[in-house]
This record gives sequence, C-alpha cells and structure tokens, in this order.
Amino acid sequence: MTSTSNAVPEILTHVDAGVMTLTINRLDKKNSLTAAMYAAMADALESAHHDTAVRALVIQGHESIFSAGNDIGDFLNKPPSAADAPVFRFLRGISSFSKPIVAAVCGPAVGIGTTMLLHCDLIYAGDNAAFSLPFVNLGLCPEAASSYLAPKLMGYPRAAEALLLGEPFRAETALEMGLINRIVPPAEASALAQQQARKLAAKPLSSLIETKRLMKKGQASIVAERMVEEGASFGRMLAEPAAREAFTAFMEKRRPDFSKV
Ligand code: COA
Repeated sequence: MTSTSNAVPEILTHVDAGVMTLTINRLDKKNSLTAAMYAAMADALESAHHDTAVRALVIQGHESIFSAGNDIGDFLNKPPSAADAPVFRFLRGISSFSKPIVAAVCGPAVGIGTTMLLHCDLIYAGDNAAFSLPFVNLGLCPEAASSYLAPKLMGYPRAAEALLLGEPFRAETALEMGLINRIVPPAEASALAQQQARKLAAKPLSSLIETKRLMKKGQASIVAERMVEEGASFGRMLAEPAAREAFTAFMEKRRPDFSKV
C-alpha cells in the first residue's frame, strides 16, 4: 500500500512497502529547517510510531544537500523558547523512535543535519557528504545529545576537533569514525537506503524493536537528560551577543566579528 501526506511542502512523507520515507525538500534554502518543518517531521515520527503499516523509516535530503541545519533567520527572529518547541519535539521523537531509521546523506549535513544522524541506525552517504557541527562558530553549544554521543562515537579528541573547531569532515572520515555505514555515489544513496529499509521492513517488527531497545538501553536515559541540559543552554545562548552576531553576519553575508563578545 502506498500513501503520501505532506503537511508542509518542504517535508515530503510517503509510505510504501512498510517504509515511511521522509524527504527534506527546501532546496532553495539548502534544506535548512524551519519550525514548521520540525513540526511536520515530529508529526511524521509520531504517526510512524503508531502506524503498524510502518516498520522502518528513511530520512533523506537531496543528492546535492542533506540539510544546512536550523534556519538561521528563525534562530534570529523566532528562536525556540520552550521545551515543547517543534525542534525539541522532533529531537525527542527521533531519539526515542522505536523502529529502525535509515538515512541517506549527500552533500552538506550541518548542525542538526549531522546531530540527527546520531539517532539513526543505518547511514548511507554520498561521496560528496560533508558533516559539520559548527555550534561554537555560531556562539552556541551542542544539541541532540551530541555533547555525549559524539565523544562516545568518535573518541574525545576527534569530537573536540568537530565540536570545538567546528570544521567539516568528509564521508571518508565519517566512515572511519563509525558514524556512517557506507559511501556510495550520490545518485545511489537514496536507493540503497530504501533497499536496506525494505530488508528491515520484511523482518519481524517485534524483534527489530526489542533489539534496538536493548542496543540503546545503556544510553537512553543519559541521552534524554543531556538533551534537556543542552536545550536549556542552547536556548539561553541563542539570545546572547555571540550568537546574535553570528546570525546577523550570516544574513548579511559577512564574516562574524566576535572581538567584542
Ligand atoms: N538558514 C537559512 N538560510 C540558509 C541556511 C540556513 N541554515 N543555509 C543556507 N541558507 C540560504 C542562504 O542564505 C542562501 O539564500 P539566498 O539565496 O536567499 O541568499 C541559500 O540558502 C543558498 O545558500 P549558500 O550559502 O549560498 O549556498 P552554498 O552552496 O554556498 O553553501 C552551505 C551551502 C550549507 C555550506 C551554507 O549555506 C551554510 O554554511 N549554511 C549555514 C549553515 C549553518 O550554519 N547552519 C546552522 C547550523 S546550527
């Protein structure tokens, strides 16, 4: 059975053969994510959780860009203020999602474009993928429990390079770190993710759910707690001078000047 439902045109959802595919579709703004898009993704996750016809989820962007992270204009003008803000609802949804999540990632995956991957189970990257966690460069701090999950996954020195220097790293480095499963030509990433998700969807759902729960059991409560702590700091820092300067500089297409903050 196939069904398509799109609450906002920038997030396309489609269910076929037991797989819900969620496509980020805001190419003119490099797939950056607005509050309405987070809300649509959070709703899709919730519906996929309850829908017995959905047995696996695919998250993808475009062959040229996965996501440029949070919409910077939103950060400046409509920052998420409460725990029930769509971005936090999305992060809670993806981090606690019980069924398998497969991601296809091509091109830049910035900020939450990378941190959401820490909550996916299988990740297939195009050879053009570039991951980055530029929170410090924006006067912010990590989110999505990446301050816990990145050092755990990559080891502290590499996480420090990614999170303190905020420099992008390529697909080969991500593969070597264990962040992704495989590198393929960009045109093949989506089909491979779909193929793997369909394999998962053909397996007994109760076994998939229990196996994922057991694999994540040791970190589930730490991740939930860390997201609350990060969220409080992130929310406070969004309004501080360093972040305001970084966002204004991005909007004005100039380099930020942190000399006074
Ligand atoms: N929020 C809002 N708009 C964004 C955006 C974001 N995060 N990222 C890109 N855009 C917009 C640009 O403002 C530009 O809009 P315009 O055409 O109206 O001027 C358009 O998308 C194209 O972006 P551009 O920077 O010209 O594309 P690029 O191919 O040269 O670079 C990126 C792509 C993703 C590397 C670059 O856009 C980037 O670094 N974006 C910001 C990432 C970021 O800091 N995100 C926050 C993470 S917490």
